[in-house]
Amino acid sequence: MVFPTVVIIGQVGNKFVLGSDSDVFTMTQPITARRIVGDCTLTALSKPRYKLVKGAMMSFLKPESLQSYVSHLDEIVNAHIVSEIKEKESINAVDFMKKLTFDVTFTILFGIDRKSPKEAMFHDFDQIFKAWKQELLDGMINLRNDLLTWMLAIREENQEPITRVELIDSFIGIVIASHDTTSILLSLMMWKLARDPKIIAKVHEEQMEIFLRKRRSGEKKLTWTDLQSMKYTWRVAQELMRIIPLVFRNFREAAKDLYFGGYFIPKRWKVFWVSYGIQINENIFENPKVFDPSRFENPSKPISPDMYVPFGGGPHMCSGNKFARVEILTIIHHMVTKFEWSQGDSR
Ligand code: HEM
Repeated sequence: MVFPTVVIIGQVGNKFVLGSDSDVFTMTQPITARRIVGDCTLTALSKPRYKLVKGAMMSFLKPESLQSYVSHLDEIVNAHIVSEIKEKESINAVDFMKKLTFDVTFTILFGIDRKSPKEAMFHDFDQIFKAWKQELLDGMINLRNDLLTWMLAIREENQEPITRVELIDSFIGIVIASHDTTSILLSLMMWKLARDPKIIAKVHEEQMEIFLRKRRSGEKKLTWTDLQSMKYTWRVAQELMRIIPLVFRNFREAAKDLYFGGYFIPKRWKVFWVSYGIQINENIFENPKVFDPSRFENPSKPISPDMYVPFGGGPHMCSGNKFARVEILTIIHHMVTKFEWSQGDSR
């Protein structure tokens, strides 16, 4: 049976949709999306299984854990940039960022650092998922201290482990959730920095200060403390996500009959939340069309979590937001301290 869809937009709408638990809204995806990601991704799981899988993800992706991966991440990013850009006259920023973030996801999150599955996967998702699944089932993939190992180790109270299908669908879900988001934001940053001399000058100053400080101290790799000091660079990312939100909509399903803003939403109707308009609303953000990263430094009025939702909010808030920040800052640090670039002819 097909149910109508209600579109909800605005600050109060964000609070209602994002802030509600699964007894009010359940996550849902159109059938076309489910065919790609499977039926057992994180968002499709029942409440106890969802808590189990999300808990495992969060224990790997929380800041305390991420701190121990910073130097490995720095190493991967450096090696990838050097090997991909060396001796090339020009690169396509979007392709480059897609490949780089793919490399990072596979190496850091999945502990797969052999070249072949990663490269094949980059070119043909469908084919490599099948191959990877088989390798995983055959025990050929070496699991170490990575997200998948953590997920394999978790148990429900009754000692029920995560099933193979849950693991594989979660894996696909994470690849999709982490890939296009991070790579597109990085491409946008490259584009913005190529076009805006004031912004690149400030980002450059911040990054060179860190670079020179490290050189003086003889410390080679980036640390968690270095990343925390990249405040302006992160504000540029925040401002880009305000003007061009990467995930600006998603579906939910009414878990029971609901009332919102004087309207009745019957049980099982779909709800489509859209964050875009609010982030460029002049009643909320001063001069919303002006690109101004400093608005996140000294906001004229506090930016509440339901006004600005680049990573969503509430129970389904992005599990990878801290990881994305670490990844983005590391990559931008290397790009800015190693290269200058400008926008070439569009193909
Ligand atoms: C700039 C990068 C990213 C952006 C803008 C972004 C944005 C979002 C948003 C808005 C949601 C909430 C969707 C909703 O409530 O309907 C979400 C959920 C999610 N994201 Fe991200 N994301 C990013 C990077 C990542 C990364 C790197 C990972 C994995 C390491 C990740 C994993 C997830 C997962 C697993 C969920 C579902 C959480 C749940 O349902 O409990 N994301 N993301």
